[in-house]
Amino acid sequence: MEDLARVEHLADLADLLRPAAIRTTATLGVVDHIAAGVTDTEGLARACGTRADVLDSLLRYLVELELLDHDADGGYVLREAAQPLREDHPYTLREALRLDGVTGRSDVALMGLAHTVRTGEPAHVGLFGRGYWDSLNEGAAHAEAIARASSGQLVFDAELILDGYGWSAVHSVVDVGGNSGTILTALLLRHPHLRGTLVDLPNQAQVAAGAIARAGLSDRCEAVSGSFFDPLPAGRDVYLLSAILGDWDDEQAVAILRRCAEAAGGTGKVLLADVNLDVVMRGEQAARMELWLRAMMPTPVRTVDQLKRLGQAAGLRVTREGPVTPVRSLIEFSA
Ligand SMILES: C[S@@+](CC[C@H](N)C(=O)[O-])C[C@H]1O[C@@H](n2cnc3c(N)ncnc32)[C@H](O)[C@@H]1O
Repeated sequence: MEDLARVEHLADLADLLRPAAIRTTATLGVVDHIAAGVTDTEGLARACGTRADVLDSLLRYLVELELLDHDADGGYVLREAAQPLREDHPYTLREALRLDGVTGRSDVALMGLAHTVRTGEPAHVGLFGRGYWDSLNEGAAHAEAIARASSGQLVFDAELILDGYGWSAVHSVVDVGGNSGTILTALLLRHPHLRGTLVDLPNQAQVAAGAIARAGLSDRCEAVSGSFFDPLPAGRDVYLLSAILGDWDDEQAVAILRRCAEAAGGTGKVLLADVNLDVVMRGEQAARMELWLRAMMPTPVRTVDQLKRLGQAAGLRVTREGPVTPVRSLIEFSA
């Protein structure tokens, strides 16, 4: 009997249906439609664009999970536990959990964890045969997900980039891998004399172009679609790399730094504003967090000394060491 209980417990721990059902619910927006008053299966199927019969299986399973309840007419109502799946909930989980969102897509890659444990490469590569960022840029379809995920908030002490460097002496900056433009637009708004160029893969560059326009910066900032493994727009004063190198092993990181060095030429600078996630890995649920990070990126932790050595391997020399916080450092290199 004890053995059976252990088997059931382990099978329950390993069960994939529960997260799949909850994330499918988030993807389809089921909870929002119920909150809006659509409670019958047929109506919900129309609203969610699904088959009614399979959706009803999902809805009945959500009742078993105590997220929904039946109402007196055989329809469905929300239980309190389902509220955070609403888009308008103050701490909504909908965007984070939907399978067509940027975090949902990366979470699914956890099923490639065996590849990470064997090789140290991201789980996404093991499962799908290509990197996460590349897959987000295959076709235009994911631009909307990138735009939805962009909070416009500075994270991981990115304020350091705005305040911890001598921007007054700089005219032009390239934000290499600048994502949806949060840092570059904040930097240009803080320093009105600066001109900016953002380089990222096509979908990110498209979303960034929108953010630049909305910030009223189109006259002194542009978003360019390109890869930092290819030649970058040359001749600017500063090439900023913020939170980029953790996604790459040392060889790839040196290749990215070389592209920046090449474009910076004899007079420009490479400003490395890298993130060190060691402190995150030592926080709550440290082992879980470390394993998760290792599945997502090959190098979540690099010390300032390791970063300096990478720069040197790319033919750069350190010309200024800026402030360092537990998660972020600023290092200026010259060719
Ligand atoms: C972790 S995010 C960092 C974004 C931003 N720099 C920041 O500090 O928030 C990594 C960025 O690198 C971009 N990226 C990945 N591969 C790239 C490539 N080959 N060329 C240019 N950008 C790339 C991704 O699209 C993403 O925007």
